[in-house]
Amino acid sequence: MLYLGVLASGRGSNFQAIVDAIGAGSLAAAVKLLIVDVPGAFAVERARKHSIEFLYLDPKESPSKDAYFARIAEEFAGRGVELVILAGFMRIVRKPLIDAFPNRIMNIHPALLPSFPGLHGQKQAAEYGVRISGCTVHFVDEGMDTGPVIIQAAVPVSPDDTDDTLSARILKQEHRIFPEAIRLYAEGRLKVEGRVVRIAGYEAGEDAVLINPPLP
Ligand code: GRF
Repeated sequence: MLYLGVLASGRGSNFQAIVDAIGAGSLAAAVKLLIVDVPGAFAVERARKHSIEFLYLDPKESPSKDAYFARIAEEFAGRGVELVILAGFMRIVRKPLIDAFPNRIMNIHPALLPSFPGLHGQKQAAEYGVRISGCTVHFVDEGMDTGPVIIQAAVPVSPDDTDDTLSARILKQEHRIFPEAIRLYAEGRLKVEGRVVRIAGYEAGEDAVLINPPLP
């Protein structure tokens, strides 16, 4: 059983997808603690509903950003957390947490990294006019959305897409691949080599390639 610590800032639908995967028996894990950095983040209601311990940590009460992340590391370590999950956490993670959990922090980003990092990946993709976007689960390093890629899912983009329509299409895939990436980790199948992640027992197939618009 893998012990998870979750960080969130908002509605927490990815957090919910992970809790649901655990509930359905497809992920052998337990969320030991949810930490939010925003008072009233809806993720907290979800934790309450599932009797998961949660904590609001106000960044302004820490003397520095590093101290804030050291505190988070301490709270997680104190509960035996093995893997940290960023589920819509809107801050750049600082060294004290990364050092406490090396290659043991995962984030989900709503674009196919390294395209469209940072805020509003879906809006960036829709405005740029790409034909394919998607989402990425990656390990977290000190950069913004720069760590080793674990899994990606592609979705088609239409010129008529708005930020909202594309976000909804991508979100469905986020909810599939985030629990899946955690499951691969829990099964000990992920190996990080430099910036490349190997997945034991997985080989890419040609039929996984999405072409948009489809070829005749
Ligand atoms: C998701 O789009 C995720 O990719 C991004 O923040 C959003 C969080 O949504 N990092 P939710 O709080 O999980 O519903």
